[in-house]
Amino acid sequence: MLKIAIVDKIHQDGIRLLKNNTKFECEIIEDLSKKNLISKLPAFDGITLRRGKIDAEILQNCKKLKVISRHGVGFDNVDIQYLKKSNIKLLVTATTTSVSPAEHIMFMIINISKGMDFFDKVVRSGEFGSVMHMKHNTFELSNKKILIIGFGRIGRKLIKRCLGFEMKVYAYDPYVEKNIIQSFGGTKIDDLSNGLKEADIISLSVPLTRETQNMITLDKMKMMKKNSIIINTSRGGVVNEKDLNEALNKKIIYGAGLDVFEKEPPDNNNPLLKNKRVVLSPHAATFTQECLSKMSIETAQNIIDFFEGKVNKNSIVKI
Ligand SMILES: NC(=O)c1ccc[n+]([C@@H]2O[C@H](COP(=O)([O-])OP(=O)(O)OC[C@H]3O[C@@H](n4cnc5c(N)ncnc54)[C@H](O)[C@@H]3O)[C@@H](O)[C@H]2O)c1
Repeated sequence: MLKIAIVDKIHQDGIRLLKNNTKFECEIIEDLSKKNLISKLPAFDGITLRRGKIDAEILQNCKKLKVISRHGVGFDNVDIQYLKKSNIKLLVTATTTSVSPAEHIMFMIINISKGMDFFDKVVRSGEFGSVMHMKHNTFELSNKKILIIGFGRIGRKLIKRCLGFEMKVYAYDPYVEKNIIQSFGGTKIDDLSNGLKEADIISLSVPLTRETQNMITLDKMKMMKKNSIIINTSRGGVVNEKDLNEALNKKIIYGAGLDVFEKEPPDNNNPLLKNKRVVLSPHAATFTQECLSKMSIETAQNIIDFFEGKVNKNSIVKI
């Protein structure tokens, strides 16, 4: 019998798939403290991982462990160098985690460009009639330029939605060839600064790496148009939060949408929580019924396929 730890609860559809498999004995681990993970995880052959940090100190005692199946595509919460050294495979939900995030990016763009939060308050506060002649900062998306930073799975779903709104799409991704971006209807940007100067909207869909940490700081925001907006649904830290708050307050850029934070949950005194120029969501880009169900099934199926020796190569993270 193979022992599988479900680290952090996932949708019941995925749990059911694992529990119904007669080869597995499963345990759900909800206490994600390092102390608990150090004591519990050495007993397991495989782990599914949603939230929770799996570092070298935890992994060094996991002598039986052969595979970690991430519920998601980001893996900055796992020590990948240790996995490489120990020949532990890392799998991600490569096929089910891009439609909802792309829709979430569109939702944030539309929310900001249509002044949704402001108009909602106007109706509720009985000022319906008074907004007619007010100056609004709302804008059309048609013909606006969006710069998609990171042209992977989410970037490629996002471009289709942007083109549906008749936007002009630019993509900055040094690892994706020009002809691929063109085949999706976009234009490749080689120099990030040029893209930032041109764009009305920038959206980030990159992994958090040494290279992408603090990719967008105040000096970069100063290159952007005054009426531009930044959407970050990738990882906190890719856009510097302190700088973003300053850029919004000083009207260097117009607005922002954030689904991810440098510290999650953010501290109550994080000034962005009080900043009216930013739309916030709690790392919820995948929180749709469809996405959570499909991700849980893919997470479980990746574990099953791994132990049956037939794992989908797109799910394997090349470390
Ligand atoms: N908010 C959420 O709930 C949520 C959900 C899914 C994914 N994410 C985040 O979004 C990220 C992207 O997801 P994906 O599925 O599109 O990943 P992906 O691996 O398919 O695509 C990432 C792209 O970023 C590019 N890239 C890497 N470094 C870059 C750099 N320095 N500059 C520009 N481009 C760079 C890669 O070449 C790749 O094409 C994930 O790593 C994860 O952190 C967040």
